[in-house]
Amino acid sequence: MAIPRETVEQILQAAHIEEVVGEFVTLKKRGSNLWGNCPFHNEKTPSFSVNPARNIFKCFGCGKAGDSAKFLMEHEHFTYPEALRYLAKKYNIKIEEKQQTPEEIMQQSIREKMFNINEFADKYFVDTLWNTDEGKTIGLEYFRERGYFDPIIEKFHLGYSPAKWDAFTTHAKQNGYADELLEQIGFSIKGQKGLYDRYHGRVMFPIHNLTGRVIGFGGRILTNDKKSPKYQNSPESEIYDKKQTLYGIYFAKNAIARQDECILVEGYFDVLRMHQIGIENVVASSGTSLTMEQIRLVKRYTKNITMLYDGDAAGQHAALRGTDMILSEGMNVRVVLLPPEHDPDTFGKEFSVEYVSNYLKENAKDFIRFKTELLLKDAENDPVKRGQVIRDIVESISVIPDSIFRITYVKECSRLLDMPEQTLTNELNKILRAKLKKTLGIEDNVAPETDTTTSPKQEETVEDQLPAGYYQERELVKLLLMYGGELFVDDRKDENGEIVYEQVSVAQYIIDELKQDGFLFTNVVNRKIFDIFDHALDEGRIPNDQFFVSHEDETIAERAADLLSTPYKLDQWEKYSIFVKREENMLRSVVKSSVARYREIIVDDRCKAIEEELKTTEDLDDQFILLKRKKDLDDMRKQINDELGIVITK
Ligand code: CTP
Ligand code: MN
Repeated sequence: MAIPRETVEQILQAAHIEEVVGEFVTLKKRGSNLWGNCPFHNEKTPSFSVNPARNIFKCFGCGKAGDSAKFLMEHEHFTYPEALRYLAKKYNIKIEEKQQTPEEIMQQSIREKMFNINEFADKYFVDTLWNTDEGKTIGLEYFRERGYFDPIIEKFHLGYSPAKWDAFTTHAKQNGYADELLEQIGFSIKGQKGLYDRYHGRVMFPIHNLTGRVIGFGGRILTNDKKSPKYQNSPESEIYDKKQTLYGIYFAKNAIARQDECILVEGYFDVLRMHQIGIENVVASSGTSLTMEQIRLVKRYTKNITMLYDGDAAGQHAALRGTDMILSEGMNVRVVLLPPEHDPDTFGKEFSVEYVSNYLKENAKDFIRFKTELLLKDAENDPVKRGQVIRDIVESISVIPDSIFRITYVKECSRLLDMPEQTLTNELNKILRAKLKKTLGIEDNVAPETDTTTSPKQEETVEDQLPAGYYQERELVKLLLMYGGELFVDDRKDENGEIVYEQVSVAQYIIDELKQDGFLFTNVVNRKIFDIFDHALDEGRIPNDQFFVSHEDETIAERAADLLSTPYKLDQWEKYSIFVKREENMLRSVVKSSVARYREIIVDDRCKAIEEELKTTEDLDDQFILLKRKKDLDDMRKQINDELGIVITK
C-alpha cells in the first residue's frame, strides 16, 4: 500500500542519519562529521562519513552516498517502502495508508485471490504427492528415483498433479474458486469439454517470491510424450512476472548474502540438487535468458555471480549472453562450465559435495578469460575473426562502471590475447568516449568533436573529452543545492546605466543568468536539477537540499548526495556567523564569480568552435553569419570580464 507523500517527508525529516547508521556502524566524531569503517566495502581506516547537518552519509572510499532510506536499502537490502516503514517504526510515526481508489481495491483483491488460490493449490499438490496412492507411486517415486531425499522434497514443497484430466479444476471449483480465476492464473485451460488441468500428470514445483509466497508453478511431464512440452509453467499474471523472478531465491537469499556469492543455474532440478548436497546459494533463471531485473534482484544480496552452466555449446553461449548485463551492473561474474555430458543436477548426483565445491573453485573462470578462450577457439587462425573477437571483448570491458577494474581487465586481456596493452586501451577509449558523450547528454552548446575519423592520440584520457565547463557546472549545481534559498543583495546596472540594488535568492540569480544566455547545463542530471529549480521558482518556491537527496529519481538523489558531501568553501565561513554582513558579501561574490566563470568557459568554447569553422568556410554569406555570431560572443566576453574584475576586487 502506498505511503502518502507528506508522511514520507515527515519520516525522512524525523530520521537522524547518525542514529540510523549508528545502529550498524560504530561512528566517531571528527570535526562536524562522524566517521566509521564503511559497511559496504572492506577497509581499515575510516572513509565512511555521516553528515548530521545535511542528514546524509557518504563513503569517500567506495562512493556510496545518500539519506537514511538509501542507507537501509543498501545495508539491509530493504525496498524503499520497507526502509520507510522501518524508520516510521523507529521514530514513532504513524503511517496513514492512502485511501485507495476503487481500481486499486479491485487490483488488490485480484492479487489477493491469486495468492490465495496458489496457496490452496500448493497444499493440494503436496498432499496428493504424499498421501494418495497415485501420488506416492508415481510422483514421489519419480523424485526418489532421481535421487532426491524426503527433506528436500518437503522443503521445496514439491507436489504431484493427478493424471485425471480435471482433478484439480474440479477440486478447486468445489471449494468455491471461480472458472475465470482458474483460467487467469493458469491452472485450467478451456477445452471442448470444458475446463481441464494444465498440469495433469506432472510433478509440481511451486515458485516462490522473496517473501516466500507462491506466485506460480512449473510442472514436469513424467512420460516420453514428445507432443507435450517437458515443462508446463504458469503464464504471467498480476503476481507472476517472469523477468523479475528467480527460482529458489526465497530459499537461497540468506546463503547468498552470507557467502557473498550467488550461483546461477538453468533448471529447477539443478537448484534442488545443489541444495541437497549442501550448496544453498543457488538460483535458476528457469531456462529463459537472464534479465536485468533478475540481476538486480541478486544484487540486493551480493555483487558476485557465478554462472554454472552445462558444458555443451548451448550452455556456453547462454552463459556468454548474460555476462555483459551482469558487468554493466558493476557486478563480478565468473563462469564454470561442467563436463559436456553433465548439468548441475547430474553432476551433483554423481560426485560428492567436496568434489563439487572443489570443481567450482578450480574451474571458475573470470568472464574475460572465459570469453576470450571461447571466442578465440572459434576464430583460431582467421585474422578477421580475431579482430572481431578483440572488439567484442573490449566492448564487454567497456560496460564495467569502475575504471580500476577496467584497467585490470585490459591487462589480463592483453596477456591472454598476446597483444600490446596500449592497442586495447586505445580501442577501449574509443568506445568509452562514444558512451560518455551519450550519457553526458551532450547537447548543442558543446563544441563538436573536431576529428573523429582518425584514431585518438595515446595520451588522451576520457577526462579530456569532458564537455567544456564540466567542473564549473558541478560547482553551480552545488551552490544551488547548498545555498539555493539564501538571499543576497545584487547590484546591477539598469537600462539607463544606473546602479540598482535588489535582493535575490541564489537560485533565482543563477537560473536567471544562465537562462538569459541560453546556457543550460549540458549534463542530463544537472539539467534535471536546473529544471526543477526553474519550475519551482515560477511557483515562488525554492526546494531545499533534502528534497533532492530524497528525490524519487535516483540519478538526482545520487548527484545531490554526492555534491553535498564535499564541503564548499563557504561552510567554513559559517563558523564566523558574527560577521553576518561579511558572509552575505562572500556568498554574493562566490555565486557571481561562479556564474561568470561558467559563462566565460562556454563563451570561449563557442568562440573556438566558430574560429575553426571559419577556417573551412568559403561561402561569404556563411562567413558573415559566423563573424556576426563571433562579435556577439566577444561582447559577451567583455561584459563577463568586467563582472569578473568587479567581483574579484571586491
Ligand atoms: N524449461 C521450461 N520449459 C521447457 C524446457 C525447459 O520452462 N519446455 C525450463 C525449466 O525451468 C527447466 C529449465 O528450463 O528447469 C532447464 O531446462 P532443461 O535443462 O531441459 O531441464 P532440467 O531442469 O534439466 O530438467 P530435467 O533434468 O528433468 O531434464
Ligand atoms: Mn537436468
